[in-house]
Amino acid sequence: MPVRSIDWDDGAVRLIDQTALPERAVWLRLSTVDDLVSAIVRLAVRGAPSLGAAGALGVALAAHTGEELAAAAAKLRAARPTAVNLARGVDRALRRAIDAGATGPDAAGAALAEARAVIEEEAVSSRTIGTRGADLLVGALGERPMRLLTHCNTGWLACVEWGTALGIVATLHGRGLVERVYAGETRPLLQGARLTAYELSALGAPYRIVVDSAGPSLLSRGLVDAVLVGADRIAANGDVANKIGTYPLALAAARVGAPFVVAAPESTVDAATATGADIPIEERDPREVSVTFPAENPAFDVTPHDLVTAIVTDVRTVDPRREALW
Ligand code: MRU
Repeated sequence: MPVRSIDWDDGAVRLIDQTALPERAVWLRLSTVDDLVSAIVRLAVRGAPSLGAAGALGVALAAHTGEELAAAAAKLRAARPTAVNLARGVDRALRRAIDAGATGPDAAGAALAEARAVIEEEAVSSRTIGTRGADLLVGALGERPMRLLTHCNTGWLACVEWGTALGIVATLHGRGLVERVYAGETRPLLQGARLTAYELSALGAPYRIVVDSAGPSLLSRGLVDAVLVGADRIAANGDVANKIGTYPLALAAARVGAPFVVAAPESTVDAATATGADIPIEERDPREVSVTFPAENPAFDVTPHDLVTAIVTDVRTVDPRREALW
């Protein structure tokens, strides 16, 4: 059984603290919604699919401890606004708990069953995306070792198991088709330099960390065959919100004609959000950027759909330059 980055553990939410990696693998056992909310806010658990699991598990936790469900759900949803998976996970478990009476053991059981379904679905989606995305790249680039550029962290830490963009890298590596992965360090919290590097090391895949501003130049020098990223929310028209620094990579990839592939489960596609302009962008504490001088800290950017070569989900591959998702 593969290790899951987040799961239910006998009355509590168990998750690996992503802020302690790569130095230490610290597993947390959180038994209140407030503890889980603060873990989400400080990025101990992060990545859209893992946030979906966290949201659903949070409602299960509230039902288990007897906390008022609507208030718990509101706190969880507000913890991070951009990744639609979080609110979706919350809403799914909440609906099931309410259908089962909203309080008591039946509601707690129903919310937990739904949270377990979310976790299971994300784990299965990741594997499917890995295979589908690997096949797509082999089709586009040929069956040969590839030089790939990725951003932020989209592996098992972010996705419960396996990974989306990094799941594709892992699948290609398993087929002997990865020459090198460039991992953008991901300013300001270093999800790439800490977490992606940790995961690629464990896979034994050849990689180099690069500063984020090196990405476009690597593309223009012909050193990258394809860019692979995840998403926090995909609007109905195919615009993609992902970690800040994704958009410049898409611009550079378009300039040199390199595939720019977004990998995400259907749970990240939001039919209710028409375009990228409607996606709420999380503004984080400026002190993550500078404790001395004034700063701004938008956590995500939006890549317009006309710069995206393909969106690979667990059920379909869409070219958003030609068709909308909804
Ligand atoms: O702020 P983070 O680390 O939660 O941002 C995460 C990302 O931008 C990921 O690329 C995205 O959630 C996809 S994870 C498969």
